[in-house]
Amino acid sequence: MTDISRRSLAAGAGLLAGAFAFGARAQQSAPQVTTAIPVPKATAKPLVINPEKVKGLSADLLRAHHDGIYADEVKKLNDIGEELSRIDLAEVTPGRLGELKRDEQATQNSTLLHELYFDGLAEAPTQPAGLLSQALSRDFGSLDRWKAEFALIGRSLDAGSGWVILAYAPREKRLFNYRAENDAMSPAGGVPLLAMDMYEHAYAADYGTDTAKYIEAFVQAIKWTNAERHYREAMRV
Ligand SMILES: [Fe+2]
Repeated sequence: MTDISRRSLAAGAGLLAGAFAFGARAQQSAPQVTTAIPVPKATAKPLVINPEKVKGLSADLLRAHHDGIYADEVKKLNDIGEELSRIDLAEVTPGRLGELKRDEQATQNSTLLHELYFDGLAEAPTQPAGLLSQALSRDFGSLDRWKAEFALIGRSLDAGSGWVILAYAPREKRLFNYRAENDAMSPAGGVPLLAMDMYEHAYAADYGTDTAKYIEAFVQAIKWTNAERHYREAMRV
């Protein structure tokens, strides 16, 4: 073997070794896309009110809503979380991942808003007081004007489904009534204080298609003490 051949061989061997080293480094730094991640686990919250005592909404309706619809949503959220935690990012299509993320968002919204809905119902009539009462007057002109807007937004969902949400917006430092079609996201950043369910399952058994009567019953049954507690917490965000 000539000197030139030896030098070429040595150079080739060096390149090969370098290539192996690069491959090893690339392997080390490759993202671990197939590693399973912790599974989030949601638990259905119990109904803390006595449904027999909520004026304007029947106990049968409230139990079916809580034990059926809401509990099913919690189960669905856990199923989605389970699938997402085990997903192989090297194999899944963008379309399938997109569907799962869409469903995850809708189901997270649904479970959170249902919890706020049941949390916002009182066994006996209450009235807004303290800081929340002042904020309602400041941001809506009066409690009556807030009620009128809240109810009309509910009526705007007559032809569909969704939620009306009283929320605190930390950026604007004020209250808003938001409208969420289906379980879609309402404006980012808002902290929900009170939610009214405008899906048929929330009223049809008691009121048929008369959403105006359902809305009136809901507004009369609001547990304002809980809404005010959420408001105080939201102002610390
Ligand atoms: Fe519902």
